[in-house]
Amino acid sequence: MKTFLSTLTLVSLSQLALGANYTLLKDHSGNGFFDDWAFFGNYDNLTNGDVTYVNQSQSTNLAFINSAGHAIVKVDNTSFVPYNEKRNSVRIGSKDYYALGSVWVFDIAHLPYGCSVWPGVWSSAFKWPDQGEIDIIEGINKMTANQMALHTFAGCNAATGTNAINQPSIANCNDTQGSGCTVAEKQSNSYGESFASAGGGVWATQFDESGIFIWFWTRASVPASITTATNSIDISSWGNPSAAFPSSSCNIPQFFGPQQLIVDITLCGDWAGIPSLFGPSCAPSGNQSDPSLCYITDVINNGTSDYATAYFEFNSIRTYGVNSSVLVSFDGKPESSSNSSTGSSSGSGSSSGSGSGSSNSSGSNGSSQGSGAKINLMVTPSGLYAGMAVATFLSWLVL
Ligand SMILES: *[C@@H]1O[C@H](CO)[C@@H](O)[C@H](O)[C@H]1NC(C)=O
Ligand SMILES: *[C@@H]1O[C@H](CO)[C@@H](O)[C@H](O)[C@H]1NC(C)=O
Ligand SMILES: *[C@@H]1O[C@H](CO)[C@@H](O)[C@H](O)[C@H]1NC(C)=O
Ligand SMILES: *[C@@H]1O[C@H](CO)[C@@H](O)[C@H](O)[C@H]1NC(C)=O
Ligand SMILES: *[C@@H]1O[C@H](CO)[C@@H](O)[C@H](O)[C@H]1NC(C)=O
Ligand SMILES: *[C@@H]1O[C@H](CO)[C@@H](O)[C@H](O)[C@H]1NC(C)=O
Ligand SMILES: *[C@@H]1O[C@H](CO)[C@@H](O)[C@H](O)[C@H]1NC(C)=O
Ligand SMILES: *[C@@H]1O[C@H](CO)[C@@H](O)[C@H](O)[C@H]1NC(C)=O
Ligand SMILES: *[C@@H]1O[C@H](CO)[C@@H](O)[C@H](O)[C@H]1NC(C)=O
Ligand SMILES: *[C@@H]1O[C@H](CO)[C@@H](O)[C@H](O)[C@H]1NC(C)=O
Ligand SMILES: *[C@@H]1O[C@H](CO)[C@@H](O)[C@H](O)[C@H]1NC(C)=O
Repeated sequence: MKTFLSTLTLVSLSQLALGANYTLLKDHSGNGFFDDWAFFGNYDNLTNGDVTYVNQSQSTNLAFINSAGHAIVKVDNTSFVPYNEKRNSVRIGSKDYYALGSVWVFDIAHLPYGCSVWPGVWSSAFKWPDQGEIDIIEGINKMTANQMALHTFAGCNAATGTNAINQPSIANCNDTQGSGCTVAEKQSNSYGESFASAGGGVWATQFDESGIFIWFWTRASVPASITTATNSIDISSWGNPSAAFPSSSCNIPQFFGPQQLIVDITLCGDWAGIPSLFGPSCAPSGNQSDPSLCYITDVINNGTSDYATAYFEFNSIRTYGVNSSVLVSFDGKPESSSNSSTGSSSGSGSSSGSGSGSSNSSGSNGSSQGSGAKINLMVTPSGLYAGMAVATFLSWLVL
């Protein structure tokens, strides 16, 4: 078990920007849901999962609008995959980046789950981990509860003793230790079959100078301020968040730059595929010390029934801001004045804005918001990466 490395101050959530009304920036819903997202178009080179993330031209059967008008994002469950090959899946990244002062609302009817399945709804700065990552929804295999996390450079901690519903399991957000700072959801119906049978639910993330706050509501509890929101949203009645990362323990403007929203589903890999996590619940009679246990059990061959639940169904993803200037390019420049936005071309099949920039940066921390600093560093492994330490820590959740 981890010990907390820092003495954390007891904080209240008084720093929450209470009573804030936010203006609608982007409405990803209906037939236009996939507008303004880039498809990754590469194999999973981030978390070592056994998938190829299709490009846009190959995505027709894996990313589409269903008859209910909702967006499906799924793992290929119709193809025969020969041994040593990867299964097709999807990773999309928003062409927009969001600066501090934004709120992102994910209304979801179904999350991918099942053996070997590892979905994520998360955000990342262009420069990673220098400017931070926020994991909003993440789970593996037969987990029944969602896990949230931040990943940053050393010096950012998740506060304990806030009035958030869930307290951190690991407080140190230092990504170089693998797990980031994690918060396990204890409210009901946050993942897997129970999430789906409850009719899904809504997550909202407030990305603010005062902190990062994540709310989760199962369908029956989604507040009217969300269901009735049109061109603005009032967060003042949302109550205690599910997870709180106030600036008192993590200087948000220092550790976080503009964030790109990302949705993906990988299979096996650095978390779901660890034999000690996968084997007991998903292949108890298999060879528990074979590192390819997950791959050979689920990914290859027909894979048709294994992946019947490996899909997202999004009712909508809507983003809001204190004003429209929080909608920026990867480099923090207002979109309207930037020429280097990865969002300017559609269907390029490039890396979803996660590292195709060719410009340079002075590399200073905390100056990225609107600074116009350009960036040279490629984004390195997605912080969805969860190393052995967290995997072990979380093994009780998985069984
Ligand atoms: C937010 O908007 C609602 C609806 O327009 C309004 O009733 C409320 O007073 C506003 N709150 C703040 C703090 O501006
Ligand atoms: C951050 O992680 C690195 C690598 O494990 C370690 O060397 C460093 O001491 C950590 N720093 C803090 C403040 O946790
Ligand atoms: C189980 O897998 C390990 C690691 O690949 C291998 O060394 C061992 O021989 C396997 N055991 C059996 C019974 O196949
Ligand atoms: C794949 O599915 C087909 C049709 O159901 C079946 O005939 C075949 O045996 C399956 N192959 C494997 C390797 O599971
Ligand atoms: C494939 O997945 C879809 C959901 O995405 C499901 O409706 C369908 O039944 C699955 N097919 C098989 C053969 O399991
Ligand atoms: C938008 O909001 C940000 C953050 O509060 C503020 O710094 C900026 O001045 C505002 N811009 C405009 C055009 O109002
Ligand atoms: C963007 O590029 C075009 C063509 O190179 C140039 O004319 C325009 O001034 C540039 N705009 C900005 C804001 O840099
Ligand atoms: C999309 O991927 C397919 C399969 O890898 C490839 O043949 C095709 O050239 C790609 N299309 C684009 C536009 O990159
Ligand atoms: C992963 O692939 C993308 C797309 O080809 C590329 O831009 C990125 O640099 C790669 N990342 C790593 C860590 O290799
Ligand atoms: C980035 O720009 C700085 C300042 O111009 C320069 O010193 C540095 O070498 C550049 N880095 C790269 C990788 O090009
Ligand atoms: C960014 O800040 C972190 C934490 O304070 C520090 O370890 C790192 O060296 C800084 N990077 C740059 C480029 O200044």
